[in-house]
Amino acid sequence: MSTINPQDRLIFALDVPGRKEAEHFVRVLEGVVGCFKIGLELFVREGPDIVKMIQDNSSAGIFLDLKLHDIPATVRGALRSAQKLGVQYITVHSTEGEVILETAEEVKGSGLEVLAVTVLTSTSASSLSSLGIREDINATALVLDRAVRAKNSGCSGVVCSGEEAKLVRQKCGEDFKIVVPGIRPQWVVVEGDDQSRIVTPCQALQDGADLIVVGRPIRDAADSRGAAQKIIGEIQSITE
Ligand code: C5P
Repeated sequence: MSTINPQDRLIFALDVPGRKEAEHFVRVLEGVVGCFKIGLELFVREGPDIVKMIQDNSSAGIFLDLKLHDIPATVRGALRSAQKLGVQYITVHSTEGEVILETAEEVKGSGLEVLAVTVLTSTSASSLSSLGIREDINATALVLDRAVRAKNSGCSGVVCSGEEAKLVRQKCGEDFKIVVPGIRPQWVVVEGDDQSRIVTPCQALQDGADLIVVGRPIRDAADSRGAAQKIIGEIQSITE
């Protein structure tokens, strides 16, 4: 297991509609989580000001989960803009292959790490063939293929489900970041949960994840700070 400290392994998904709610969670979770993940909902509404708000109020890292998917020149430009914002992580889609994954070179060594989204956890096995993927290629094979391409193209790592973390680690080696969403601690029940391929924080890390993304189990808890601390305690119990 990599030597990241337990707190830095926890990324909180700031899945909230606007600045007011984001400020609340940054205040509540400051000093506990290692990174705040800004998704499309918040970024489209608030723009780069939301990045500044977090930087002004927290020492945690920032993950811009924009899942960039466009022609290479446009993705390169977006990466340069993200680099100027001073964030640590950004996501690009891997469906277009090397032509997009290689845009990671644009910001190599700048402190901005490019993570490739492999297969969305919302994509079911049956929908793969309707997307034109050959029938003998399942989601796991696709994730592995895209992870290897991401690594060879200069991406820092991938986002994949906990189910694939072990195989991605085996294929891509230690020097490649694996970020796993779809995390559900055993003590949490998320109302109307839409995540299907879920794993516990410990399972994800034992299977090779470096970082875990947790949203609703923290956001919707009566005591969000306590829930985040409990997850870090579980991480500590297996990493120290
Ligand atoms: O609330 P929950 O813990 O399910 O949040 C998971 C977060 O991870 C959300 O922000 C979601 O957009 C993100 N994510 C995901 N599956 C992926 C990539 C990102 O659930 N493949």
